[in-house]
Amino acid sequence: MKATKTTKTTKCTKKTKAINKYEWFTEARFGMFIHWGLYAIPANNEWIKNHREISNEDYQKYFDNFNPDMLDAKEWARMAKDAGMKYLVITSKHHEGFCLWDSKYTDYKATKTQAKRDLLKEIVDAFRAEGLKIGFYYSLLDWYHPEFPIDAIHPLRNHPDALEMNKTRDVRKYAKYMRNQITELLTNYGKIDIMWFDFSYPKTEYRGMPGKGRNEWESEKIVELVQKLSPDTIINNRLDLPEFKSIVTPEQFQPEYPPRNADGTIAVWEGCQTFSGSWGYARDEETWKSEKQCIEMLIKHVARGGNLIMNVGPTSRGYFDYRAVERLNDFARWMKYNSRSIYGCTMAPEEFVEPNGARYTWNPKTKRLYVHITDWPLARLHLPGLAGKFSFIQFLHDGTEIEYIENAKKSWNNEDLPEGTVTLRLPIKHPNVAIPVVEIVMK
Ligand code: GLC
Repeated sequence: MKATKTTKTTKCTKKTKAINKYEWFTEARFGMFIHWGLYAIPANNEWIKNHREISNEDYQKYFDNFNPDMLDAKEWARMAKDAGMKYLVITSKHHEGFCLWDSKYTDYKATKTQAKRDLLKEIVDAFRAEGLKIGFYYSLLDWYHPEFPIDAIHPLRNHPDALEMNKTRDVRKYAKYMRNQITELLTNYGKIDIMWFDFSYPKTEYRGMPGKGRNEWESEKIVELVQKLSPDTIINNRLDLPEFKSIVTPEQFQPEYPPRNADGTIAVWEGCQTFSGSWGYARDEETWKSEKQCIEMLIKHVARGGNLIMNVGPTSRGYFDYRAVERLNDFARWMKYNSRSIYGCTMAPEEFVEPNGARYTWNPKTKRLYVHITDWPLARLHLPGLAGKFSFIQFLHDGTEIEYIENAKKSWNNEDLPEGTVTLRLPIKHPNVAIPVVEIVMK
C-alpha cells in the first residue's frame, strides 16, 4: 500500500514543474539559516535538552523566561540582504518542540511567552520586505509533545519508566499534529518557498525503543499535503523517502564532489553550515570560522554546483551575536564586489581544470569563468586548457585588466606546462579582498 502511494506522490510532480520550481533556488545560491528557540537561553547548543536529559518540567524555566525584548526583525533582514543572501530558512519549531508561531494546536508557542506575539510572522514579513524568499525548517522530532514516543535521542530515554510511558503515547496522533501545523505554516504566512523537515533515524534503536522514519512521520502524507497546499514549495530530503527527488542537504561538511540522485544525475543540493559549530546561540563556543574560511565555503559550495545556507543563532533577547554580525559583514564586503561569481553560477565544465590553490565557478548564461584564488601565488598562475577560448580577463572586484601569456611551454621553474595553458600575470601584492576573483570572458 505504502509503496504504491509513494510512487503516486513522486509521479504527480510533473517534470517541467520540478525544473521551474528549482530555478530561483539554483540562481540564488546563498541563503540564511536561523535557529532560534528557547535553547538560546542555556546557550549551549540546541540539543541541550537531549544532552542533559532534561524533563519538560525542568525545561519550563526557559519558556517562562523567554523574552526577546530586543528583536528587530527588520535589522535581521537587512543584515541578510547586505550579506548577499537571497532566502531565509528559519526554525518554525526545533526538536525542543517550541513553536515560534501562533499555532492553534499547542500552547507551547511564542504568543504564550513574554514575547506575547507571533514572532515567525514578524520575521517572515521583514525578510519578504527585503525581497528574500522564505523557507520553514520544521522539526519532525518533538521532545515536548505528550504523544511523541520516547526513543534513543529523546531526553527521557534513560527514564526507568520510559517503556511504560510509551504505552500511552500514540505516534499517529503526533503525525496528525504535524500535518495540522504544516497546514498552518503553509496557509497563514503567504507563499512558502521551502519546507525543510528534520530529520529521520529509522534504524536507531535503544532499550527496546525503535527509531523513527517514514512510517512514524507518515512522510508520504506530509509530501502529499505540501504538494496539495503549495505545489511550488521545495521540499528537502530528510523525510526518509529516498525515491522522492528533493534537495540534498549535507550538513557541517563540504562535499568534494557534487552529490548525486539515486538515478546518477547530479542532485540539486544545499549545504548548511554554522559559523561556530552550534546551530543555536552558544555563548562560550570558541570555534568560530575565520572570514576567509566562510567565504571559501560559499565559493566551494557553488564550485560544486550547490547552495549554501549560513546559520545564525540569535540570542534570547533577539539580536545577532557580535561574532555573527562580524562574519555577515565580511560576506557583505566580499559579495558587494564579487557576487557575479556566485549568483546563477555552478561548477565549471570538465574541460576547465582547477589549478592548485584556486576554485572555479561558471556562469552558463553569460559564459564567464571565475577563478577564485584562495592561495595567492607569486606573480604567475597557470590555467590549463584555456588558450584561444576567451576574449578578455579581468579582476572582478575592480574591473582591471589582467595580462596573460598563452601557450607557454615551461613555467619559471622550467617545469613542462600542459598544452593550451594560459599564464596569468598577477600583481605580487594580494588585492584588498578576502579572496580575489578573476573573471574570464569566454568567446
Ligand atoms: C541536525 C540537528 C539540528 C540542526 C540541523 C541542521 O539534524 O539535529 O540541530 O538543526 O541538523 O541541519
